[in-house]
Order: sequence, then C-alpha cells, then structure tokens
Amino acid sequence: MQFIDDLDVSGKTVLVRVDYNVPLKDGRVQDETRIQASIPTLEYALKHNARLVLCSHLGKPKGQVRSELSLAPAAERLGTILGKAVALAPDCIGEETLEMVRSLEPGQILMLENLRFHPGEEKNDDEFSRELARMGDIYVNDAFGASHRSHASVVGVTGHIPSCSGGLLLKKEWEYLSKVGDPERPFVLIAGGVKVSSKLGVLENLLRRVDAMLIGGAMANTFVKAQGFSVGTSRVEDDLLDKAREIMQQAREKKVQFYLPVDFMLGQGPDDESRAGVCPFQAIPEHLMALDIGPATCTLFAEVLHRAKTVIWNGPMGAFEFRPFSQGSRNIAEIVAGLHATTIVGGGDTDSLIHELDLQDRFSFISTGGGSFMEFLEGKTLPGFKALEECSSK
Ligand code: ADP
Ligand code: 3PG
Ligand code: MG
Repeated sequence: MQFIDDLDVSGKTVLVRVDYNVPLKDGRVQDETRIQASIPTLEYALKHNARLVLCSHLGKPKGQVRSELSLAPAAERLGTILGKAVALAPDCIGEETLEMVRSLEPGQILMLENLRFHPGEEKNDDEFSRELARMGDIYVNDAFGASHRSHASVVGVTGHIPSCSGGLLLKKEWEYLSKVGDPERPFVLIAGGVKVSSKLGVLENLLRRVDAMLIGGAMANTFVKAQGFSVGTSRVEDDLLDKAREIMQQAREKKVQFYLPVDFMLGQGPDDESRAGVCPFQAIPEHLMALDIGPATCTLFAEVLHRAKTVIWNGPMGAFEFRPFSQGSRNIAEIVAGLHATTIVGGGDTDSLIHELDLQDRFSFISTGGGSFMEFLEGKTLPGFKALEECSSK
C-alpha cells in the first residue's frame, strides 16, 4: 500500500475520503477530534500545492437528503481550524459539483455534501463510484473510521481513479494497531455503544484473543435479554438473541471471563432529567429503559480492569450525552486512564467522551475508528485497506 507522502500531489486535484461523522449539537460540531485527526494529511497536500476535494458521510440518512445531516457544520469547523475558507458543494456528484471542483486553484479546499444522501454510496454502486471518481486525479483514503465499510467512497471509487493512496491518519492507525498483535496479558476488552449488529461478530472473533470481556452500553441489553430477563423498553436487538447466547457459550468454552452489568441506571428515555434510579439487572420494570451501567457494575469492572496489562475499549457504557446517564462512562474512562497498562481506545463517541473529560493524554493510543478499530484488532483486512492495496499494485 502506498501513502500520500509517496506521491507527487503538486498541482493535482486530490479527492480525500475523510471520516467527519462527528457528533452535532444544535447544528454545530460538538467534538472536533476527527476533524483535527485529518489535518496532517490536508496540510501535507496543501503545502505541496494540491487542490483539495473532501468527501465524507455523516450519520445514517439512508440514501435521502436530510438537511440536518448536511456536512456544512463540519466544513465550517475545518475552515476555522485551517484559517481558510472551505466551500461546500451542494452534492457529492453531478455537473454543478464538478464545475466547482474544476474552478479550484492550488491550495483551495472544497467539501462535498454527505455521501450517504445517495443510496449508491452504501451499495458500493459502480455508477456512483465512477461519478465520485470524477472529482479528483488522485484518491486518498484517510477515513480510518469508515474503512470497514465496503462503500463506494471507500472501495468502489478506487477502481475508477488513476491513482490511490492512504492518508497520514490511516498510516498512523495502521502502524500502531498492527503492533498490538501479541499483547501483554491479562488482555481485557470493554465493549459498549449501540452498534450491536455490526459489533457482535467482532466480539465473537475477539474471544480468541482476550482474557476477559466487559460489556456495557446498549449492547449489554441484548445479552441480558438473551438470558431470559426483561429489559423493559431498553434498546435491544431481538434478532441477535441467539447470537448473544452463542457468544456467551463460546466464552465459557474458551474460558474467557465474560462480564455483563449487574445493575443499571434506568429512565423513561435518555432525556429523562428525573431519572428513575438504580436497579439490579434482573428487575428492570416493563416501562423503563436501561440507559447506563450502575455503581455496582463500575466496582465490578474496576476489579477486572485493575489486573489488566492491556485494555481495548470501544463504545460508551450508557447514553453519556445526557448528564443523568453519563456517570458509568465517566467512571470507566477515569479507571482506564489511571491504569498501569497499555490502553487503546476507539470510536467516534468514545473519543468524544474522553476529550470532554480532558483525559486524551492518559491513554496509550486513541483510534478514530469504532467498528473499524475493532475489526482491525480482530485481525481482519479492512475492505478500505484491501482496495488501496489492489489499486496500488495495478
Ligand atoms: P462509538 O462511536 O464510540 O463507536 P457507538 O456509536 O457504537 O460508539 O455508540 C455510541 C452511542 O451509544 C451514544 O450515542 C450513546 O448515547 C449510545 N448508548 C450507549 N448506551 C446506551 C443505552 N443503554 N441506551 C441507549 N443508547 C446508548
Ligand atoms: C463511525 O462513526 O464509527 C464511522 O464513521 C462509521 O460510521 P457507520 O457505522 O455509520 O458506518
Ligand atoms: Mg458512534
């Protein structure tokens, strides 16, 4: 695989796939970690007199234009960080956008509108990939966080553009995470967040590598329900209950310690200021939701973590964006930050939590990837990496 610093980008139009899937609040970027992480690649290209065209997804608009998922706030924040104007094209493909690309001068930047406004992006559609490829002479993938997705802007586009490479963020993630091969033990995984369907397979594969798994966040609900307990109105993935049972069975067979929350913080919903209080996992009432891990779970998880020599963590322990349900994630962040161990964290929301707590300097490595970070550590070749390798060897 080649990286941007192996190429001559001078005077070229460089199409950079970034991961600006950032948390927004009231139409503004709430956490700019992922934008900051893309700056080395962008500055490299600008310093070498390239014309820059950036593309990204934001959220899950499912092929529809949804104005609240416009990349305008991200373009504006990038402009502030770089101290220069970043124009936003009205779309990511089409003649009007192509005109804007063609009128760029060296050193100028254009951001394309949300890729997922088109169904062709997630379908890795060939025609959409070809249209996107018209936006540059050189394609650079710097979206480590999206490199586990076989989408047009990550995979398809590489088949239609003359030259491809990885960006400097991709290089940094790859260099660090490749070294995690043989970690010091005990090796503990903390998994939380909401993307259960895309992460359960990863848990299954990581059972081969870790000594213990700590499960929190909405992910835990599926496991609790799989054991036959009610989880009230909590977020749960009913079609994955068998899979969850299988994972617990495999953990027993492989002698991996598997910990679920023993208590939860309940509420009517994430924005329930009154919060209904702490409840043991066996007794969640039908009308309430598990929205955070409880204090006994934090004590239990701390006990396991204090013995760990390597910790990987992806996914918050609860709906941490809402103050009443942020304590579990905060506690776990503080505990992991204080360990004498190699601590590797990943995930857009997990990273945003860590920055909010100002703990970013107390981890061994913070990856910008969530699902991609987990899949990489699982030992999979990410589709985005494979596409770059194939394109470079063309
Ligand atoms: P990351 O971005 O770190 O990979 P995810 O995107 O998988 O993590 O999950 C983060 C989201 O999970 C947050 O928006 C948080 O509110 C939500 N979440 C975590 N636990 C719960 C829960 N118990 N119920 C509802 N949402 C939850
Ligand atoms: C992420 O936030 O983990 C990446 O941007 C990928 O987003 P996705 O899970 O919506 O594909
Ligand atoms: Mg997320």
